[in-house]
Amino acid sequence: MIKVSIDGHLHDEKDAVISVFDRGFLYGDSVYEVMRTSGDYLVGRDYHLDRLEQSAHGIGLVLPPRQALIASMETTLASFDQSDAYVRLIVTRGSGPLGLDTSLADNPRVVIIAQSLKLPPEQHYIEGVRIAIVDVRRNVKDALNPAIKSGNYLNNILALSEGKKQGAEEAIMCNMLGCIAEGSTSNIFMIKDGHIGTPSAESGILKGVTRQAIMTLAYAMKQPVTESLITPDELKAADEAFLTSTIRGIIPVSHIDNKPLNAPGEVTLTLMTAYNDYLAQVATGKEP
Ligand code: PDD
Repeated sequence: MIKVSIDGHLHDEKDAVISVFDRGFLYGDSVYEVMRTSGDYLVGRDYHLDRLEQSAHGIGLVLPPRQALIASMETTLASFDQSDAYVRLIVTRGSGPLGLDTSLADNPRVVIIAQSLKLPPEQHYIEGVRIAIVDVRRNVKDALNPAIKSGNYLNNILALSEGKKQGAEEAIMCNMLGCIAEGSTSNIFMIKDGHIGTPSAESGILKGVTRQAIMTLAYAMKQPVTESLITPDELKAADEAFLTSTIRGIIPVSHIDNKPLNAPGEVTLTLMTAYNDYLAQVATGKEP
């Protein structure tokens, strides 16, 4: 089942259309968030909306008020009678005559897509997935900053195609310094000698909402996560590694390129349990 809201009007999938002159379509001139529900609640909703605001600020786009976005998501979800939902909230700069100049745009357009949440196959959680460190680099922060979740994902699409050709489930991009940045739609963590690490913000990443939740859980378990620059050799020498994202949660990594890892390792399993407990708590309406 799919429900789509466009500027507050609900549509079924086949009637959900926007103009070919919309700048999101023409130039990727938009920002977005992907959320999921647990029970009736959007997991990490306020963190996603904070990040949407930061992304919009980063591209000079003025968003509709937060309460209006929340109300539209709630109306869309209310029309959607399934338990766990995937919710994509997109705000484009609007449409107008062809041309890059942002003053050509009319008004921001709010699109919300709600569909059934499709988690990765169970096997991925049990056996882990292969990842490949690809040649495609993550954008430099001074170009389109990876911290901005914009509708322009071509860089990540190219990375993922390269990874898929190598038989990997996810592609890991390095930054221009050659340090590990992140996956095409995920953040990465590694564990070495019991210590948990993840690429720092200065590595040029999207600061994942799931990444932050895992760091908070790990901290509470007295296993604080170190954020730093990580080289591909350091990552490959890890005892365990895992990917995080909203629609994956935590996925263990079984191989980096062809190097096998312990999957799921002990620390990864502990965090997977803690994250599932967190999701269960969100479902009760008490997001920690
Ligand atoms: N993407 N890095 C990138 C480049 C991403 O696109 C995503 C998520 C993440 C993880 O962020 P979070 O934990 O907030 O989901 C990291 C979403 C899921 C997507 O585009 O489908």
